[in-house]
Amino acid sequence: MSDDTQNSSVAMRAVRILTAGKIGAAPSVIEALKFSLRADGLSWIDIANPDQDFASLVRAGSQADIALVGLEIDADALERIKRWVWLASELGVPHLVVTVESSDLPPKGRPGFDALTSRLTSFVKDRCDFQSVIIVPINAATAGNVVDRDANNGWYRGPTLRQHIVGCATTCREAQLQSHLAEPVQSDHIQARLFWLHDEALLPWRPFELRTEQGQRNATITSIKYELDPHAVERIARNRLLYGDIGVCNINMTEPFKCVSFKQDRQAGLFTLTDPKTHDVVALGLIDYSLRRASNIRWQETTITPAERAEAKQQNASVLWFTGLSGAGKSTIADLVEKRLNAVGRHTMLLDGDNVRHGLNKDLGFTDVDRVENIRRISEVSKLMCDAGLIVLVSFISPFRAERQLARETVKPHDFFEIYVATPLEVAEQRDVKGLYAKARAGEIKNFTGIDSPYEPPSNPQMTVDTTNETADQAAESIVTDLLKL
Ligand code: ADX
Repeated sequence: MSDDTQNSSVAMRAVRILTAGKIGAAPSVIEALKFSLRADGLSWIDIANPDQDFASLVRAGSQADIALVGLEIDADALERIKRWVWLASELGVPHLVVTVESSDLPPKGRPGFDALTSRLTSFVKDRCDFQSVIIVPINAATAGNVVDRDANNGWYRGPTLRQHIVGCATTCREAQLQSHLAEPVQSDHIQARLFWLHDEALLPWRPFELRTEQGQRNATITSIKYELDPHAVERIARNRLLYGDIGVCNINMTEPFKCVSFKQDRQAGLFTLTDPKTHDVVALGLIDYSLRRASNIRWQETTITPAERAEAKQQNASVLWFTGLSGAGKSTIADLVEKRLNAVGRHTMLLDGDNVRHGLNKDLGFTDVDRVENIRRISEVSKLMCDAGLIVLVSFISPFRAERQLARETVKPHDFFEIYVATPLEVAEQRDVKGLYAKARAGEIKNFTGIDSPYEPPSNPQMTVDTTNETADQAAESIVTDLLKL
């Protein structure tokens, strides 16, 4: 044996422990345990404590070997730790260790201990997925059952805390060695559980950057399948996640990556989602599995290209995207622009929010989630029509910048013109052609844009028209001459 391998600090293995509650009243209990574990070649790494926020807890928990919780004996003790225990299980922590201070146990120790064990065991069996669960009665005064057996609790026949931690560390080490055998699948669509860490709600279809240890991909959440909750018997259907929520989601990547499930490899199966603009981490994710192999679906090239289709029509295909409040004049102006384009022989199509909501999008309402989906579908439809060689006029409120940006990227930026119909709310409301503002003010319509649902004006539109300074005809004329240069 070389000198190096004999040196215990080189041979030392880390056991990563996530703790909650007091493990014995005196700090010396833990110190004694850490000291004895060193003799077993294990270095104890405290990776989180209960005072840490949800984000730190989630990060630490995803890499922990053992969740160690010190339970106090009172009527609510178990209730208080249930969510924490469940979270540790959802984060894939393999081993749960619970300690109870034996001097706190009800008279005669054992019945109280057994009752607690059976309540915890039944909760864990129903709600969690640990490889091992153990409750150890410890004596803080003597460190009994921590390192050595407690002479006062002869009825306890299980391992000491030290013995158990050493056993857990061994199985974790074996699992780690096995993880390298996991066969990655090249995939661009995965199911994952997301721990949402951002103050703003997660809405499906918003763009994110997904980072694994292999690198980074552009990604969108295509659906939130359900939310996980320790108290709910049924899975709860959700269409958005808020800070602290945990949801099972489908995620689509622009390019495939080598995907390994978190169960197989807790390093490779872990990812973060970041906001592409602010670079804030918005979620931590654990890969459940790949939904399809990227190689099963390929892009089919066509002989006639989009450019050739446009050329046959002797025009530049493009998308004119009108955005603005309800009643701003989008549809009127788009209609006039289309009339002018047709008069000079251009091939066009007008997609109007009110009309498309009668057909393709008749399943959608006006919540943020539905509006995101409304605009996503229209972005794809406009792209198809643009590829068909048409000049596409799109007239939707499209209240959110993120989806208008998505539309621009879907269509291809140089074919996309964002036109802001900047009629102020007071004017649109005064006109109230459809009588909807009056209804919204009376509380008869919920989530009405400008009243109780936001509108985010474009920061850099290709053109702004304001129908308080010019007529719809003048606005249409300037779009055709200034923007399209016809
Ligand atoms: S978007 O926000 O998802 O882009 P879209 O343009 O499709 O909206 O539909 C807007 C039209 O729906 C409005 O012109 C109005 O006639 C009607 N409408 C009905 N309810 C609402 C609402 N809550 N908010 C805005 N528009 C509404």
